[in-house]
Amino acid sequence: MPKKILVIDDEKSILQSLAGILSDEEFVPVCVDSAEEGLIRLKSEVIDLVLLDIWMPGMDGIEALKQIKAEYPELQVIMISGHGTIETAVQATKIGAFDFIEKPLSYDKIVLAIKNGLRFSNLETENLILRQKANRKPNLTGNSLAINNLKEQIERVAPTDAWVLIRGEHGTGKELVAQTIHRLSNRNSKPMVEVNCAAIPEELIESELFGHEKGSFTGAQTSKRGKFDQADGGMLFLDEIGDMSMKTQAKILRILQEQTFERVGGNQTILVDVRVLAATNKNLEEEIDAGNFRADLFWRLNVVPIHIPLLRERVEDIPLLVADFVEDLSHKGLGKKSFTDEGLSVMMRHTWPGNVRELRNFVERLVIMCPDEEINAKTVEQYLHQPPPPSTPETLPDKAALAPYRTQNFKEAKREFEREYLIGKLQTNNGNISQTAERLGMERSHLHKKLKALHIELSDPE
Ligand SMILES: Nc1ncnc2c1ncn2[C@@H]1O[C@H](COP(=O)(O)OP(=O)(O)OP(=O)(O)O)[C@@H](O)[C@H]1O
Ligand SMILES: [Mg+2]
Repeated sequence: MPKKILVIDDEKSILQSLAGILSDEEFVPVCVDSAEEGLIRLKSEVIDLVLLDIWMPGMDGIEALKQIKAEYPELQVIMISGHGTIETAVQATKIGAFDFIEKPLSYDKIVLAIKNGLRFSNLETENLILRQKANRKPNLTGNSLAINNLKEQIERVAPTDAWVLIRGEHGTGKELVAQTIHRLSNRNSKPMVEVNCAAIPEELIESELFGHEKGSFTGAQTSKRGKFDQADGGMLFLDEIGDMSMKTQAKILRILQEQTFERVGGNQTILVDVRVLAATNKNLEEEIDAGNFRADLFWRLNVVPIHIPLLRERVEDIPLLVADFVEDLSHKGLGKKSFTDEGLSVMMRHTWPGNVRELRNFVERLVIMCPDEEINAKTVEQYLHQPPPPSTPETLPDKAALAPYRTQNFKEAKREFEREYLIGKLQTNNGNISQTAERLGMERSHLHKKLKALHIELSDPE
């Protein structure tokens, strides 16, 4: 996709010559003759780099640079000046300018500075991805036949460009498998952008995926890149794909087939190169029969299916998983506990309907709540049969009830909170979804999706 360069200079002749140079180099120039106008354009267009004159009537370049850096810290700005002094250059660099070039402008210097600036932005993104990866440390723990078979499939498919549909029950590790495929793929220096299809309200899905131009709908005060844009060159992880409405499925299918799209309210066709991974815990074949899922979308996504086994089908992995979780928790400063063999055997006999996530949360609860250094069979039994009491809607949870949140990652803690919060609110409203949605200030359809995503089932639906 050609990069858009915003040029801000009050001299018409400079704007003209820069526009020529940029077009020759296959950039898209956006030229304005004042800092004020430049700031407005930044709000309405997605810009990749800025060339900014220092001396201008009205707001000068230094002030504009401050405002740009405050609002778009990741955007690189190259200052241009006819009367460059060392002091101004130093001042601009301190505020965060990427480079400084002097008039008269040399073709080669400008092009080089722009290319360096764009490369730097890419490096910053790559750095961020590396940091995320280091923090995430995705690792499929286990040594059972089932998990080894899974690892083998992942290793085979990851370096190809094939699309993968990851299937498995709740908490079996679908997201972890997606992260592992990304890590082992040729696209691992580019982002894997996650989209939780169940959590995005129907009316926002288009703008979320494709981005929008300023003013394209009420509330669109600035232009925004969509997930497809962000994933260009990398991967898009469509999580909970079975929870999308038929309307959204049709939209997604078109763009998945063509790999081109338009931003909402925009008229430019954007071409992207995206590898798609999708995940679901639903039986999509049944959903297709029931008319809830498009067969053509299923076949498009299901190029390579990967099925993750239930935890109870690979109980021999439990000791390794527990050891891993205990180790993780000790790094978080919760002390090092150990489990007796009998304690582990009790866990291996349990059915774990919530799979690895449930096991992980259980180990965390034990490590936090159990005062003993060594956790034996009796304690495991006792905790297995005493699930934490669900917090009642109108009372604040006490400290002990909050303890399980303490070391979960943010996403899981948030999900757990949302679940408890919504269950509480539904109880207060006797399970009436419309009433609950109204009281919470949510769209009914959005609440419905949220409940689905959080696997909250109503015993007495409306
Ligand atoms: N093989 C494994 N080794 C280590 N940890 C695992 C493994 N499988 C899953 N986990 C952990 O279990 C938790 C749940 O995994 P994940 O979120 O990938 O599951 P999921 O299938 O996407 O769940 P859901 O259907 O609820 O979205 C995470 O904390 C993950 O790190
Ligand atoms: Mg998941």
